Amino acid sequence: MIKKTLVLMALGSTMMLATSPETLIKTNCAACHMLTTPTADMIPTLKAPAMDAVMFHINLAISDKKEVKAFIVDYAMNPKIKKSVCESNKVTGFGVMPSLKGKISDADLSTVADYMMENFPTPAFVKMITEMQTNGKMNALLNSPFLINQTALPHMTKVLIENWEKGTLALTAEQKEKLLVVRKETMTAVKQIKGKVKVLEAEIITLLIDAEESKEMDVKVDALAKLKAEATKAHLKCIAQTVEILDDEQMELLFPFFDS
Ligand code: HEC
Repeated sequence: MIKKTLVLMALGSTMMLATSPETLIKTNCAACHMLTTPTADMIPTLKAPAMDAVMFHINLAISDKKEVKAFIVDYAMNPKIKKSVCESNKVTGFGVMPSLKGKISDADLSTVADYMMENFPTPAFVKMITEMQTNGKMNALLNSPFLINQTALPHMTKVLIENWEKGTLALTAEQKEKLLVVRKETMTAVKQIKGKVKVLEAEIITLLIDAEESKEMDVKVDALAKLKAEATKAHLKCIAQTVEILDDEQMELLFPFFDS
């Protein structure tokens, strides 16, 4: 009788002690993924994207809830850069996540995935990121001397130079040297054009206010168009030269979404 009670008590207490989702995520994920919302200045110092950011990107890429869960569970066990839905330059920055195989049970991982989907991203994070993105895009657009301002046209050497200490890319010294030359040539050309664009735009607006000099205005608008075409060509040439310098593997690592 006493034995039976003890067994029941033991069973009862293990059930009571079943680990909460919050504890599971804290013990298995939080060492790398912070669970509170990072402030903008913390983002560059993180070891891995904050859980807020992880879920934000997954939700952008996958809409079906079942698929979201399947993605999380699969990624934690078999992380691969090709599967990643986070921005490619972020993954290059952090390095691919180490697999949690053998470190967490399938059941616990399933619980963690549910918890992630319920609690992330927090509304505060979504607000912060949307504001940052809007501001960034607006600023880039306002100062752009290019005719084509699609995000599909990456500023390749910039992304590269930001990431090239990362071992995964394995850039050779010769590649780095070539890329620096391309970057310098492009920057010099675009900077010069940008200065001229600013002056011309101001002049055109002044003429517009004066209203009389419409012919002079036309000439200046044509000159402006020509300058922006030049800047666009410099940008496109820079992309072509960068693609030439990199090998296929490096291209895929940095720009998995850049289908030409
Ligand atoms: C040792 C550090 C570490 C631990 C522990 C860790 N992660 Fe990660 N995780 C990373 C890094 C670094 C990235 C960013 C690079 C990448 O996506 O592979 C990442 C990215 C992810 C991504 C985004 C995948 C994408 O699209 O790029 C998911 C999902 C994820 N982790 C889930 C988890 C879950 C769930 C846990 C806990 C059960 C966990 N991680 C624990 C380091 C870690």
